[in-house]
Amino acid sequence: MCGIVGYIGHREAFPIVIKGLQRLEYRGYDSAGIALFDGNQINLSKTKGKVEDLKNKAKEISQAGSIGIGHTRWATHGVPNDVNSHPHYSNSGNLVIIHNGIIENYESIKQELTKRGYTFQSDTDTEVLINLIEEVKKTEDVKLGKAVQIALNQVVGAYAIAVFDKEKPDEIVVAKLGSPLAIGIGEEEFFIASDASPFIEFTNNAVYLEDEEMAIIRLGKEIKLRKIKDDAVAYPRILELQMNLEEIEKGGYDHFMLKEIYEQPRAIKDTYRGRLLAEQGLIRMAGIDLNMEKFLNANKIIIVACGTSWHAGLVAEYIFEDLARIPVEVEYASEFRYRNPVITDKDVLIAISQSGETADTLAAIKLAKEKGAFVFGVCNVVGSSIARETDAGAYTHAGPEIGVASTKAFTTQITVLTLMALKLAKTKGVFSETKYREYLSELETIPSKVEKSLESNTLIEIIADVYKDSTNCLYLGRGYNFPVALEGALKLKEISYIHAEGYPAAEMKHGPIALIDEQMPVFVIATKKGHYEKVVSNIQEIKSRKGKIIAIVTEGDEQVKDLADHVIEVPETLESLTPLLTTIPLQLISYHIAVMRGCNVDQPRNLAKSVTVE
Ligand code: F6R
Repeated sequence: MCGIVGYIGHREAFPIVIKGLQRLEYRGYDSAGIALFDGNQINLSKTKGKVEDLKNKAKEISQAGSIGIGHTRWATHGVPNDVNSHPHYSNSGNLVIIHNGIIENYESIKQELTKRGYTFQSDTDTEVLINLIEEVKKTEDVKLGKAVQIALNQVVGAYAIAVFDKEKPDEIVVAKLGSPLAIGIGEEEFFIASDASPFIEFTNNAVYLEDEEMAIIRLGKEIKLRKIKDDAVAYPRILELQMNLEEIEKGGYDHFMLKEIYEQPRAIKDTYRGRLLAEQGLIRMAGIDLNMEKFLNANKIIIVACGTSWHAGLVAEYIFEDLARIPVEVEYASEFRYRNPVITDKDVLIAISQSGETADTLAAIKLAKEKGAFVFGVCNVVGSSIARETDAGAYTHAGPEIGVASTKAFTTQITVLTLMALKLAKTKGVFSETKYREYLSELETIPSKVEKSLESNTLIEIIADVYKDSTNCLYLGRGYNFPVALEGALKLKEISYIHAEGYPAAEMKHGPIALIDEQMPVFVIATKKGHYEKVVSNIQEIKSRKGKIIAIVTEGDEQVKDLADHVIEVPETLESLTPLLTTIPLQLISYHIAVMRGCNVDQPRNLAKSVTVE
């Protein structure tokens, strides 16, 4: 969480840092700040609120200077207010820092520094770190880079930091452990950011710091990379970025979320492009081909993820067990990492993550690797920490997802996991050639069927208007669509702040049915394939208790139409592929309800896109 941006070069830093922060606002948006060096002094402005508020507040300071650092915050230590916002000064006022992460042992360091006469304005761990750096610089009589390296060896926690020293005004020192940090390399200029989006219009060349690396970025010089642990020289690996500007702008849509919902036909196609060769009856996935034996001989597959990615993992459990007949367990990464799980070198762990930076998922990967398991990543962000930490993997190729609520990440994750399961099923000989080819051809039709599902948008807007003032909602599904019910409920609660819960439809009788009255909207996924008759019975049970039923049905369904208050149709497909379609109306309903309630759809309260703290 938190986004950091920096610039050192020949342009005015202010607009670059501000625009960069706006692009990173998905990472945290409770406060923001900027520090600029005008050649003489540091001018700093920070405020509770969004980057737009910072832009106004910063009118009070000089905006001159071609060196700047900025921060958009998701509070960990200290409430979101002006004082706790970054950047933070050291006591002398010479050093200034921005930080994404958590310093866990900041209390003991703070006590020690207090004894030495340091005072603190904020409640943050970051202010402690900058004063520790200052203390090291003074007592060891070293330059900024060395002081940062020594200080970081004394801290426990996670960080991506950028530090500027007024006494060394031609450089910025950055370091990383756990939180992401990219350096964009231009002509006689450098950019620093949590991801490449702030500098994509200036350069395609970037260096992503590895964990425990730091860099001294000096004007007119090559970047110097060092290992934080022992100050050994490290060598920068310059990557050529594929991202383009269009992908990170709204492109005429009111919100990123809506744009990303509508991008799904394209995103799913991009996910299987070059992998799914339906005519030849082939699936090409290098990460699976090279490790086929590991998958085929696995005692079990363990899937770890959080939030929406965990829901994609649940869908994958059905797919892998149903199609490939491999036993699967799905775990919240946060639980898995702390519960002493039974895992051996005969197991395969699949980690699913849009951002590739989720702290709990990363920790689960490290644990599984320690136990000797083979670890496979399904990530969207190329070059992310999870992508680097895993033994092999498959990218989803969804393109940047900026809306905090995950949409296209979910459907593209399911697409990748389906391709994997089909490939394994075929290699294992579980599938006949005919059945296999039927799946491949059907998967190829999914983008156009998603497109068709999106055509219900106007109807969904009307339904949203009916239920926008609800205080509670239930979501029900069975089989492959049980995780979709969970995902539908999560989408609604996170962006509209309406309480919503998802259940397997048959669980209703074991408790939740007590909640049903004429005020309760119940979203039921009742597609033709997969326990249809049973779901129809569940619908009847809700109806007889006067619940309001909004059903997602297969095109042409007549039976549910007679029972439900509203029906939304999706095209017919194979049962295992239905989540790719049934999830679309649920995304749209959440979106419209949230808009009608005046909520900030792209940046819901208290959330951040990239959860880099546990
Ligand atoms: C919900 C949402 C979150 C994420 C979760 C995991 O819409 O976006 O629940 O799915 O924080 O994030 P990743 O997939 O980046 O690991």
